[in-house]
Amino acid sequence: MRLPFLTLLIALPMSAQTPTDRIEALLQRMTPEEKIGQLSQGVVHTPEHAEAAIAEVRAGRLGSFILSAPPEIATALRNRLQHAAVEDSRLRVPLVFGADTIHGYRTTFPIPLALASAWDPSLVERTQAVAARETRAAGIEWIFAPMSDLARDPRWGRVAETFGEDPYLGASLVAASVRGFQGDDPGAADRAAATLKHFVGYGATTGGRDYNTTDITPFTLRNAHLPPFEAGVKAGALTVMSAFNAIDGIPAVANRQLLTGVLRDEWKFPGLVVSDWESVTEAIKWGYAANDAEAARLALTAGNDIEMVSRSYRDTLAQQVADGTVQLGVIDQAVRRVLGVKLRTGIFEKPYADSDAPQRAFLQPESVALAREAAARSLVLLKNDGVLPLATSARRIALVGPLADDATEMLGTWSAHGRPEDVVTLAAGLRARLAQSATLTVARGCELLPAGPRTRALPDGSVVIDEDATRSSVTAVEADFEQAIVAAREADVIIAAVGEPRGWSGENASRADLSLTGRQPELLRALAATGKPLVVVVFSGRPLVLTEIANQTGALVQAWHPGLQGGPALAAVLCGDLPPVGRLPISFPRATGQVPVFYNHATTGRPEMVDYRDLTRDPLFPFGFGLTYTRFEFGDVEIAEPAGAGQTPVARATVTNTGERAGEAVAQLYIRDVACSEGGRPAQELRGWQRLTLAPGETRTAEFVLDDNALGFVDRQGRHRVESGDFKVWIAPHAGSGKAATYRKK
Ligand code: GLC
Repeated sequence: MRLPFLTLLIALPMSAQTPTDRIEALLQRMTPEEKIGQLSQGVVHTPEHAEAAIAEVRAGRLGSFILSAPPEIATALRNRLQHAAVEDSRLRVPLVFGADTIHGYRTTFPIPLALASAWDPSLVERTQAVAARETRAAGIEWIFAPMSDLARDPRWGRVAETFGEDPYLGASLVAASVRGFQGDDPGAADRAAATLKHFVGYGATTGGRDYNTTDITPFTLRNAHLPPFEAGVKAGALTVMSAFNAIDGIPAVANRQLLTGVLRDEWKFPGLVVSDWESVTEAIKWGYAANDAEAARLALTAGNDIEMVSRSYRDTLAQQVADGTVQLGVIDQAVRRVLGVKLRTGIFEKPYADSDAPQRAFLQPESVALAREAAARSLVLLKNDGVLPLATSARRIALVGPLADDATEMLGTWSAHGRPEDVVTLAAGLRARLAQSATLTVARGCELLPAGPRTRALPDGSVVIDEDATRSSVTAVEADFEQAIVAAREADVIIAAVGEPRGWSGENASRADLSLTGRQPELLRALAATGKPLVVVVFSGRPLVLTEIANQTGALVQAWHPGLQGGPALAAVLCGDLPPVGRLPISFPRATGQVPVFYNHATTGRPEMVDYRDLTRDPLFPFGFGLTYTRFEFGDVEIAEPAGAGQTPVARATVTNTGERAGEAVAQLYIRDVACSEGGRPAQELRGWQRLTLAPGETRTAEFVLDDNALGFVDRQGRHRVESGDFKVWIAPHAGSGKAATYRKK
């Protein structure tokens, strides 16, 4: 007797079926409601959340969850929900669980903007691999990262989560993140599915105000905002998250031209797209959908597969299928992609998490050591008149400022389950490093925020005003301030630790003024007025306006929010045990009024006339900038024409260490297409970099192939093209520096 194909297929052991067979077999058996359930995502933070969702899971009405619960209960909550899906539901399709592991799960690494400062894809890959191992151990197989947005406006708080203002650097680090999270098998016990977010253009939010609309020209969209996402797709990312913003008036969550036209038709992305927190129904507030049903239809048919948190899919799609407003085939296509990702994460074979796995995975010594390495390589030395590295003769050191010894603030935004008690602050790091050689006096000096009630950072990184703070009295604040100045006067060297609260960067944390807050500027002026050697360390999630302090201080270090090991890392660099190697991934403005200021700007028709009446157009510190404890001299760029047909030209320049210490130069390749038929290309575009470790007096040659990747652009139809004509070519220490050579491409 011939068994129907489907019955035969179902009869086969699952492992004997191909993924496509398994998906089709399930799809054939699913009701419309069960299919829509796979496209619906809940959130579980507490046991109450889990209990409230059990019935919907049993009915097959939910297919995935954000698991933001603390790791102590995460695996139990996850297994409770998974049992309801795998044992009690009709088709036993396992749930997949996601979470925001942005820069570490329990071992907190520097924020992504800091990691970008290391200009080191292998470092990013290693940190994300640790993050994936800890996240998977906590029962989560889907990581909502890397943030792949390009950020040119530091008023936008989420710049902290990005890899900065350049598409080439960003693309390289996004791809490295995907490799770190997913490895060769996202279903492995120490890996997880990656998410390219937020697709697309979120960083161009008007006014730097989060959740705002964007106005992006098609050419800029193609050549600035899309390349990091394309690199992530090529690296094999399993998922994409659509963005909150609108592009050209259409909310990204319902933007068919992007979600289907670019992502699937052009790039052949096979994975799933998930919306960002209730953005499906926010299409109503955008004035793009009239109601939940229309919002669901527009998002689903545009290519957004899963609805995160809001309920329009599960509340309205079944009826829309019944009345023919939505074709079941569209739902089937989305469900195929969701089931495909679930298969790749391995949850069909291993649906449950081991409750003792987190303790085995968290805070491994090698993970903490990597956090220290990452913090040391991501800080950027912006000024140094010789006060660094600290002289061994400095016996009395005053460490002054609100961020000298504040463990919570070092975690940065989106710190998942990082804990202050695991942080080593700058005070603790210096105390340990200087124990035998100097006395360290630590004084807070002033509050981070304007005088008055103190703030309190909550575990999610938000900041609340602590009305009953015991130190809100002016008297206590004055005493702090005077005490700090006294300590500074008695010291041989002053180290100031200032910046911004971690809760003032990240989501919904836009700033209209990028100055140091509260009495920090006053404190720095008072410290500078002592005439003692001064080192200023800035902890922030974005570029702040440091113009005044840059003139007053002897040394200036951008330390970002450096994670668990910022203290030992900074102590090692300040004392000269390690060299500073970081380079800026984003420009630092001289004033908030300059923003947005970025290096890969248009050349304009009057490049000589672009300054303000009251300020230059140039940033205080440019993209790619960073000092070391030595000096490097870059030779002129030479271009070796191709030897024969099919050969590619090579650009070369010598780099010499002219200082007394070994150091790492970062030779950066910039190009400019002098005339492009698709419109003016930027004044400079980063197209490669090489780290060269040089001993004092040593010279090496930086060499770059001028191939299509180095010279090309993306046209408005998404085609990668290279045009003949003249190109300017720089090999330089940072943007806006060095002398260009000209290469004429035939
Ligand atoms: C947030 C963020 C997004 C995050 C999601 C789930 O609103 O925009 O980056 O992944 O919600 O927490």
